[in-house]
Amino acid sequence: MTVLVAGGAGFIGSNFVRYYVQAHPLDTIVNVDKLTYAGNMDNLIGLADLPNYRFVKADICDQSPIESIVQEFSVTSLVNFAAETHVDRSILGPAEFIQTNVMGTQALLEVAKKFSLHRYVQVSTDEVYGSLGTTGKFTEQTHLHPNSPYAASKASADLLCLAYHHTFGLPALITRCSNNYGPYQFPEKLIPLMILHALHDKPLPIYGDGKNVRDWLHVLDHCRAIDAVLAKGKVGEVYNIGGNNEWQNIDIVKLILNRLRKPESLISFVKDRLGHDRRYAIDSTKIQRELGWVPQYDFDRGIVETIEWYTANQQWWGRILTGEYQSYYKMMYEGRENA
Ligand code: NAD
Ligand code: TYD
Repeated sequence: MTVLVAGGAGFIGSNFVRYYVQAHPLDTIVNVDKLTYAGNMDNLIGLADLPNYRFVKADICDQSPIESIVQEFSVTSLVNFAAETHVDRSILGPAEFIQTNVMGTQALLEVAKKFSLHRYVQVSTDEVYGSLGTTGKFTEQTHLHPNSPYAASKASADLLCLAYHHTFGLPALITRCSNNYGPYQFPEKLIPLMILHALHDKPLPIYGDGKNVRDWLHVLDHCRAIDAVLAKGKVGEVYNIGGNNEWQNIDIVKLILNRLRKPESLISFVKDRLGHDRRYAIDSTKIQRELGWVPQYDFDRGIVETIEWYTANQQWWGRILTGEYQSYYKMMYEGRENA
């Protein structure tokens, strides 16, 4: 089997590629990534020399080069991670999110249809379901109610996948996962941002009252779930993936500070994110029951390993915290203190 992984230079994609080439040495991975600000070849160090791995720089919106890649490498399946992924950036500028997440997905679906690929897995998110109150969980039957431009673009892509399955019989499957944490996450997202700020004794900016709830899953548990869906999932189906591990943002931040022996006085409450979803929680009974997937990472262990990974890999994030990141950070956070 030859799997085209789109977006494999990002956080989850690079973890997936690393996991997959080892778990399936007889398969080949062709990693296709545009290398946006979030794509990073440093995430893929050590892979280039493997006989079952190739990297090609390309934009998923450009159908013709993707078709050539599929032909050249005799691709049989496709897993799509490629996306613009940060909610805050989607508030600053939604257009790129529509371009890559919607138009790009449609281009990939066309390629999958034209070359009769055996499987197409769309990596989606629990954010397509919107926000929960204090109780309940998202199931695969929960109506889509995306609230941010990011979530709306991901929901649109999901609907295109289901439409291609219904109309053309395309063997598409969708995964909807909760918040991931682990190594190689771009430090615009909550956990790596807070770890790096704590390491630098910089204020830790918490949006609103800090009581928004996310369900955290280790990235390798997500990778294993996608592998299970790719191998055994039923086409046309959606699979929720979650860690059953809900945390208020403030508690995650305190945990990071405590682990790094930094004072809680570094916490800085800032103006809330526009349209900030209050709570996400995932019911992943279906994938557990039907595909036998269960998370293997205990959060206490996973978060400590993650904090240690960022502490030890200064060279990795040192190269990121320059240029574009500095301008983004200024635009997002300067003058935002004291909500
Ligand atoms: P990321 O931002 O770290 O990586 C995205 C990757 O996609 C980057 O390598 C980037 O260069 C690439 N890319 C962007 N536009 C592209 C284009 N037009 N053509 C080719 N490549 C392009 O994102 P991530 O956190 O690894 O998320 C991966 C996927 O998982 C996304 O689809 C996201 O919606 C989904 N997801 C993420 C989370 C999470 O917690 N991070 C949770 C659930 C689902
Ligand atoms: P994030 O990592 O951006 O993921 P998502 O919004 O997709 O869930 O944010 C996780 C939570 O952390 C979310 O409730 C917003 C909050 N947050 C902050 O409080 N401060 C920050 O600087 C960031 C980036 C996020």
